[in-house]
Amino acid sequence: MLDDVTLAPSAKALTLGNHQVWPPVVLAPMAGITNVAFRRLCREQGGGVYVCEMITTRALVERIPKTLKMIQFAPDEGFRSLQLYGVDPDVTAAAARMVAEENLADHIDLNFGCPVPKVTRRGGGSALPWRRRLFGRIVTQAVRAAAPAGIPVTVKMRKGIDDDHLTYVEAGLIAQEAGVAAVALHARTAEQRYSGTADWDAIATLKQALDVPVLGNGDIWEADDAMRMVAHTGVDGVVVGRGCLGRPWLFKDLHAAFDGVRSQELPTLGEVAAVMSRHAHLLVEALEDEKHGCADFRKHIAWYLKGFPVGGDLRRSLSMVSSLAQLDDLLGKLDADAPFPRESLGQPRGRVNAPGKVSLPYGWLDSRDDDTVPEGAEMDNSGG
Ligand SMILES: Cc1cc2nc3c(=O)[nH]c(=O)nc-3n(C[C@H](O)[C@H](O)[C@H](O)COP(=O)(O)O)c2cc1C
Repeated sequence: MLDDVTLAPSAKALTLGNHQVWPPVVLAPMAGITNVAFRRLCREQGGGVYVCEMITTRALVERIPKTLKMIQFAPDEGFRSLQLYGVDPDVTAAAARMVAEENLADHIDLNFGCPVPKVTRRGGGSALPWRRRLFGRIVTQAVRAAAPAGIPVTVKMRKGIDDDHLTYVEAGLIAQEAGVAAVALHARTAEQRYSGTADWDAIATLKQALDVPVLGNGDIWEADDAMRMVAHTGVDGVVVGRGCLGRPWLFKDLHAAFDGVRSQELPTLGEVAAVMSRHAHLLVEALEDEKHGCADFRKHIAWYLKGFPVGGDLRRSLSMVSSLAQLDDLLGKLDADAPFPRESLGQPRGRVNAPGKVSLPYGWLDSRDDDTVPEGAEMDNSGG
């Protein structure tokens, strides 16, 4: 909690291309979460970069309607940040070129962190940096394709496949050589998935190794965690994922902390309910479908209500909500005066799963320099 916080007023704005980001805070791309609705709620709380959901390069270049809808940005999104996932240098370049030529975004992040078995089994996501030449080609081509439009490209990766197959320092150097604007490290291996704790020492090691800005990611649950990460690692910015699930106001605390001000938002249940309602309304508006929007909102309910006294029946009804009127009616039954459950502060939320052996294509670990493009790893949209 904030009592022990080390404020970091010395932190600098993060430079991404010709864009200055203050505070140096990034909403982590999260598939199924960081759509235009959730980004709005977060953006309203403070400055930073708010990355959209992961977009697969092939789906983008093939102009799959669902994918094109996923890259919608609000008119007031000043710095439109888009994450691409690809395994093929040419397809990634085509996607980056499309973003540049059609002015679809102001920033491209490349996802090399996904640990989902159906992605790594085909050599994608967090498996890919092991094939260092292929990794280098993808990043280089993306940077080149985005450059004419002045779009900075960043890379987001994990430490490696497992403790015996770490790639992050080498991959960071390759990405730097390729011309990326920054490198973000989720300091876990693919094998760890979301288990255990993020290895902030690895973030410090990467920071030491690179000249380009390094962004630290993993286990920032409160603003003081962000300050501790900066103090511990010297990173140029932080990337926050699960900590803001059901808590978009975390970005207010983060902004304040980087400004050197202590702040901790502790909304009452009534205030949380108002944010929930707004979130659902924004989702319905974005998806242009009330039923779909409400169904999509259901996954957020437990995060918003974590630790609050809400009876089982009401929780169950909320988890099956199918219209905005029904949602607002149920939210009206909550005890609006219930204080924020302080015991939930600093606690993990969202995915906290067990480690698991990483599925890889046959022979994947045998060669680091084989740069054959893995087949069939491109259409997945599950993120991670
Ligand atoms: C539901 C969910 C979806 C995610 N989707 C993506 C994704 O599409 N792209 C990506 O690079 N990382 C994705 N991640 C990983 C996060 O961006 C982040 O690296 C990870 O959650 C660790 O940060 P945290 O400890 O702050 O949550 C996802 C994580 C979660 C929980």
